Amino acid sequence: MFEELIDINKRPACFSIYTAEELWTEPYTAKQMLRYHLNKELPMASRKHTFIDQSANWIAEHFNLGSGKKVADFGCGPGLYALRLARTGANVTGVDFSANSLAYARETAKQEGVEIEYQQMNYLNFSSKDRYDLIVMIMCDYCVLSPSQRALLLSIFKKHLSPQGRVMLDVNTMNAYKEREEVSTYERRQLNGFWSPDDYFGFVNTFKYDDKKVVLDKYTIIEEHRARVVYNWFQHFDLASLSSEVESNGFVIEETYSDVAGGAYRSDSNEMAVVLRLM
Ligand SMILES: C[S@@+](CC[C@H](N)C(=O)[O-])C[C@H]1O[C@@H](n2cnc3c(N)ncnc32)[C@H](O)[C@@H]1O
Repeated sequence: MFEELIDINKRPACFSIYTAEELWTEPYTAKQMLRYHLNKELPMASRKHTFIDQSANWIAEHFNLGSGKKVADFGCGPGLYALRLARTGANVTGVDFSANSLAYARETAKQEGVEIEYQQMNYLNFSSKDRYDLIVMIMCDYCVLSPSQRALLLSIFKKHLSPQGRVMLDVNTMNAYKEREEVSTYERRQLNGFWSPDDYFGFVNTFKYDDKKVVLDKYTIIEEHRARVVYNWFQHFDLASLSSEVESNGFVIEETYSDVAGGAYRSDSNEMAVVLRLM
């Protein structure tokens, strides 16, 4: 028991383990995630739906989306943005590894009679002959990836962007980093039964990696017959660090906002959104 508690409380090397697939595709958790996505007021898996409406309208107008334009949504979840963007007439592809979210996305597109191509896969393996006018990655998903995964993702974006294409993504800022604290807690049926329909103990250990501006929320979920650990990493950026990272990978930051709805950039916001173009 003592050894197990040592393990639960152990700080792993930064970005040493990637468990995003476990978090998003474990059958029970995936259902819970979809409930979060579809809760219009709860900004947990997707943002509030009033914001998504505003954001999709802004993206459609800003990037002049419509017939003849090709858009790729990386980590599209249940297609809340993909559907809204496809309503402009743009040709939209959504990529996600959650079968559960994509089933919902496909069904809603079908009900509306809107054509959207949904691909179930790890976006780090994405490959297509198509070239996109706009690639979006929304809800700070860029930040959960390690530096080498982010370099790989940017190379995938580069390969799939049309010459005049743009990438739009959002990231956590240093303000968000400052607000996080290292904590260790546990709770029976942590997060109101989010992790399992059965009884369990959920431990959360939050670690900060000051030299790298990374936060880890490490969840250890112990059921009677199963134990698992989910590692949720968050890289935090300022404009200089993001700019230098994308520049090392063939992009430049062309525009800067406080969010993906085109809110004016503020140095004190917890997130920022950027538009990238090829160098
Ligand atoms: C925070 S949610 C955001 C969903 C959507 N962008 C939105 O804002 O409504 C992240 C999404 O990315 C997907 N995802 C995370 N890592 C992925 C990966 N490596 N490959 C494919 N999908 C991934 C998850 O399944 C989830 O649907």
